[in-house]
Amino acid sequence: MMPRMTVASGDLDIVSHGAAQTGRLGARLGALCTGGEVFLLDGELGAGKTVLAKGIAEGLGVDGPVTSPTFALIHEYAGRLPMAHVDLYRLDGEAAAISTGVEDYLRTDGVTVVEWSTRAPDLFGPDWVRVSLSHVSETKRGVRVSSMGRRSRALVARFSREAFGIASE
Ligand SMILES: Nc1ncnc2c1ncn2[C@@H]1O[C@H](COP(=O)(O)OP(=O)(O)OP(=O)(O)O)[C@@H](O)[C@H]1O
Ligand SMILES: [Mg+2]
Repeated sequence: MMPRMTVASGDLDIVSHGAAQTGRLGARLGALCTGGEVFLLDGELGAGKTVLAKGIAEGLGVDGPVTSPTFALIHEYAGRLPMAHVDLYRLDGEAAAISTGVEDYLRTDGVTVVEWSTRAPDLFGPDWVRVSLSHVSETKRGVRVSSMGRRSRALVARFSREAFGIASE
């Protein structure tokens, strides 16, 4: 098995100044998807994971309301690519997460967006974009974007270039 690589070189650290801005970051990420992407959205309650997920859905051309799947665990949406929005908050461990069927989505060419992925850290394959959100103030959030795997690293590099005009690699 390959050793886990550090992801620090391509990491991005951003401050979002409001929910709308976090949504736009998500929309940019969604617009860059070509199918098969996995987004792991982490951070405490109210950090903005669902706001970001809604933005990704918008970037994927999903029409209509995107609501938090806290109780349903998975919501599916049809956009330019299919999107599965997963929330593992209520789950504890990989076995519990597998019972939701989230694994099936990870094998498809759709886009999988997972809130609280840290509840089942071993569930995800070697290619993902992680967005870690943290409270800075009532309206500001720290947004750290890291990635693992070729596809995701390329997506984040492109996101950096297009959103900020910087090369992250
Ligand atoms: N810069 C910001 N980015 C994102 N959300 C923000 C920001 N500033 C304020 N907010 C507010 O913070 C809240 C974030 O809620 P959201 O449901 O997205 O959090 P969450 O991380 O999904 O929480 P949970 O763990 O409960 O699912 C919203 O009410 C949003 O309007
Ligand atoms: Mg949420």
